[in-house]
Amino acid sequence: MSTPPRAANPRSWARRGLAATSAVVLGTTLAVTTSSPASAATGCEVDYQLNDWGSGFTANVEITNLGDPVNGWTLEWDFAGNQQVTNAWNGTLTQNGQSVSATNTGHNAAIATDATVAFGFQGSYSGTNEAPTEFTLNGVLCQGQVDPDPGDPDPGDPDPGDPEPGQRVDNPYVGANVYVNPIWSANAAAEPGGEAVADEPTGVWLDRISAIEGNDSPTTGSMGLRDHLDEALEQANGEPLVFQVVIYNLPGRDCAALASNGELGPEEIGRYKNDYIDPIADILADYEDTELRIVTTVEIDSLPNLVTNVTPRETATDNCDQMLANGNYVEGVGYALAQLGAIDNVYNYVDAGHHGWIGWENNFTASAELFYEAANAAGASPDDVHGFIANTANYSALVEDNFAIGETIAGQPVRQSSWVDWNQFTGELDFAQALREELVGQGFDSGIGMLIDTSRNGWGGPDRPDGPGPTTSVDAYVDGGRYDRRIHLGNWCNQAGAGLGERPQAAPEPGIDAYVWMKPPGESDGSSEPIDNDEGKGFDRMCDPTYEGNVRNGDNMSGALPEAPVSGHWFSAQFQELLANAYPPIQ
Ligand code: BGC
Repeated sequence: MSTPPRAANPRSWARRGLAATSAVVLGTTLAVTTSSPASAATGCEVDYQLNDWGSGFTANVEITNLGDPVNGWTLEWDFAGNQQVTNAWNGTLTQNGQSVSATNTGHNAAIATDATVAFGFQGSYSGTNEAPTEFTLNGVLCQGQVDPDPGDPDPGDPDPGDPEPGQRVDNPYVGANVYVNPIWSANAAAEPGGEAVADEPTGVWLDRISAIEGNDSPTTGSMGLRDHLDEALEQANGEPLVFQVVIYNLPGRDCAALASNGELGPEEIGRYKNDYIDPIADILADYEDTELRIVTTVEIDSLPNLVTNVTPRETATDNCDQMLANGNYVEGVGYALAQLGAIDNVYNYVDAGHHGWIGWENNFTASAELFYEAANAAGASPDDVHGFIANTANYSALVEDNFAIGETIAGQPVRQSSWVDWNQFTGELDFAQALREELVGQGFDSGIGMLIDTSRNGWGGPDRPDGPGPTTSVDAYVDGGRYDRRIHLGNWCNQAGAGLGERPQAAPEPGIDAYVWMKPPGESDGSSEPIDNDEGKGFDRMCDPTYEGNVRNGDNMSGALPEAPVSGHWFSAQFQELLANAYPPIQ
């Protein structure tokens, strides 16, 4: 993986409001057909999913209208315990004792037949937090588990109202489990304490042509793509399952760094198409009509490099200049999107860097424009893009609670601190939500969703600040309060002090389809000294803990852990540190 380049640009930036969203999940699925007092046929399905941390929770609620079109809705239910709603989005909630009433907002009043609207809320509670089991929609009592399709011989399985296999849904993570890679899982479980997270889903990286059939890499092992897909069908067991696969083999890969240089030379676009993307598409097409929802992460770190690491930027590299000039990143991404997007159950998510890379205003819009260009290249159309993923294999914190853009400390704006360095964002959540809006503005579908890789952005452990820093200077304030303990935001290789971040979860926030662990924790970002290998991987001094940096990390120390193996190989010491510094902590 490469990365970024700071790009200070101290112009002001007016933050726009966040997009309303359609995020939402399901845990309890209630399919209900109501008998209508009027002539209109009514019926609905309510998916209610909890994200519960013991004393508080968020709930995401999705209403699918199985009856005649509705314009204006009220969904009501009773809590079984003392749950208290504290705030809500995409709906207006009122609570009276245990009774809750949720009504539409201006933008989601209408629900066509078979359409879905979603809202969410946050709450507190003590004791138990059972999901409600009965809902009314517009006053009509819905008494759970009534089969809307009397012809269905097995009304409970799959859940009535779920789309047929192969049909795309708005958020593939909603109502689905996610594939656990048995090879990563075994590596994690073999580490002391690793059992605690070994059942978490991680991405399957196809990081070279031989990975499609399976090779002997320590982390890919003998499982090829087809083996993983067959295993995924076993794990799915007839229910929807997300299979996360990373497409990562562009010609001239990782043009601003060396640690993840790949096997294809800068001009080998033909091999990329014929020997890499086409075989992957052929295999995936064999699983088109199944319960798998195939989420692709398309080409980490590629397009942003063409914005930030090219002439005349001081961060330019010859390799990135070449990849911009020959067009093979744009062509390759477009081709991947077109070929994979032609498969009905594939959900393409394009890699979008992270806030410490394209969060500066002179990178932000230019990146979004380039993503749009790539989505129209090589036969692709924006419809082939289901969303974008931020922070893949990076370490940027989700949210920094202890300082904010817009604050002024000791007469200086937070943006002026060395850490923020005029970036528009302080964390990945704000960045991803704002980028979503920007991308919609560029022409992408308003339903696109974002993923955030939280595999290694936890920053817990004893050094995690529990409040803001001193207000003596803006640097003291930001440095004393920030969770992200990197020496510099541009550092990217095997960062010392990092921990596992939020566990993978569906629809955690508006606009965010899921938090995912796309980078498998414990797999190295690059070797800390040169190591011969046959994978095309180079040695990047950003992975050497003694390196004093370059223009892309503001000439700071690399912050890398010592004794790291080649990128992608298992790095036990890093895994141990990620466990120890997990945030939220491992229970
Ligand atoms: C490496 C890949 C590896 C991936 C996931 C990248 O940095 O270059 O070979 O599959 O990380 O660990």
